[in-house]
Amino acid sequence: MRAYHVAIFLSGVFLYYVLHCMLWGANIYWMTPVDMKRRNKIQPCLSEPAFASLLRYPQLHPFLCTSDFKALASVYGSNKYDLPYGMKSSEDTFQTALSHLESCELFDESDNVPCKRCVVVGNGGILKNTMLGEKIDSYDVIIRMNNGPVLGYEKEVGRRTTFRLFYPESVFSDPIHYEPNVTAILTAFKPLDLKWLSELLIGGKINSKGFWKKPALQLIYKPYQIRILDPYIIRTAYNLLKFPEVFPRNVKPKHPTTGIIAIIFAFHICHEVHIAGFKYNFSDSGSLLHYYGNTTMSLMSKNVYHNVTAEQTFLKDILEKNYVINLTQE
Ligand SMILES: *[C@@H]1O[C@H](CO)[C@@H](O)[C@H](O)[C@H]1NC(C)=O
Ligand SMILES: *[C@@H]1O[C@H](CO)[C@@H](O)[C@H](O)[C@H]1NC(C)=O
Ligand SMILES: *[C@@H]1O[C@H](CO)[C@@H](O)[C@H](O)[C@H]1NC(C)=O
Ligand SMILES: *[C@@H]1O[C@H](CO)[C@@H](O)[C@H](O)[C@H]1NC(C)=O
Ligand SMILES: *[C@@H]1O[C@H](CO)[C@@H](O)[C@H](O)[C@H]1NC(C)=O
Repeated sequence: MRAYHVAIFLSGVFLYYVLHCMLWGANIYWMTPVDMKRRNKIQPCLSEPAFASLLRYPQLHPFLCTSDFKALASVYGSNKYDLPYGMKSSEDTFQTALSHLESCELFDESDNVPCKRCVVVGNGGILKNTMLGEKIDSYDVIIRMNNGPVLGYEKEVGRRTTFRLFYPESVFSDPIHYEPNVTAILTAFKPLDLKWLSELLIGGKINSKGFWKKPALQLIYKPYQIRILDPYIIRTAYNLLKFPEVFPRNVKPKHPTTGIIAIIFAFHICHEVHIAGFKYNFSDSGSLLHYYGNTTMSLMSKNVYHNVTAEQTFLKDILEKNYVINLTQE
């Protein structure tokens, strides 16, 4: 009789263990009902897009949420990497910044378009004097980055913006560029970027020390519009660019540009991804780098933080495989 009880107990333990592992493996383990609702919005499509094969977690919610970002960081391994690829030793800094935000939702409650068609608008000079604006505005989701303006360039790049990726040194500071419908996504490269966000949201003063160049000293977006990108997305970009695990001591580690990060972000939330403005003209160092302003190509060629060659190779590859469509070509 006793052996019988022990057997039942042991099989119970075994069953619990198996279920635990299965659920954990599927990441369902961590989801509270609120999270379920949040995640279900990402991919309500029946077919999986071809580019999903590049991703380890195609359904990853791209923004951090206060309730579970620490738990998810250990699921995705983000607790093992420093910024910008993880949260190792910066979890509290993330926590503080997140505590000032009002939402981590992806799309508006009212938005129920399934299987989104997205366009990622790069800031490349190739967009200058084009007439792509109307075409770009026709997408479900329009992703822009940094201080690529819409104002004054509507003919070239359109007027709608769904998401805009930014970091302190690249974000608009002039309120004339305010976009009421935008969700602004902080791409944190260093702990200081999160502290900068927290400081601005509580109305504090910014000390420019430690930034790559002078950061914005005020935030034109409202707290409800701001999200923090999961560093896992930046790590995915890094891995897909096949950057080495370790750089030699005398070589500056390379990081993906916001443009590539924006495409990887799109891969996690869209069903179709088109790109525009992703071309650099290396053969002419005097050609315009962006569709706005006067910065020339020579600035990018000198950039030691990015590897534009690796990025062009990656773009060529995903274009050839039809994972993305080049809108500039049409
Ligand atoms: C912002 O959203 C409102 C309501 O959906 C819409 O009427 C307006 O045209 C949008 N503005 C832009 C610039 O997209
Ligand atoms: C790149 O620059 C060269 C030299 O100015 C020019 O001839 C060429 O048309 C440019 N290519 C593109 C795609 O803009
Ligand atoms: C770019 O250069 C042109 C002519 O050299 C000048 O008129 C214009 O103001 C400059 N634009 C910016 C944003 O500096
Ligand atoms: C950039 O990437 C290319 C190809 O991925 C590689 O051959 C090259 O060594 C890299 N350059 C630097 C400076 O890391
Ligand atoms: C997209 O098409 C344009 C026009 O043909 C071309 O110049 C550009 O190199 C293409 N972009 C990429 C990333 O290949």
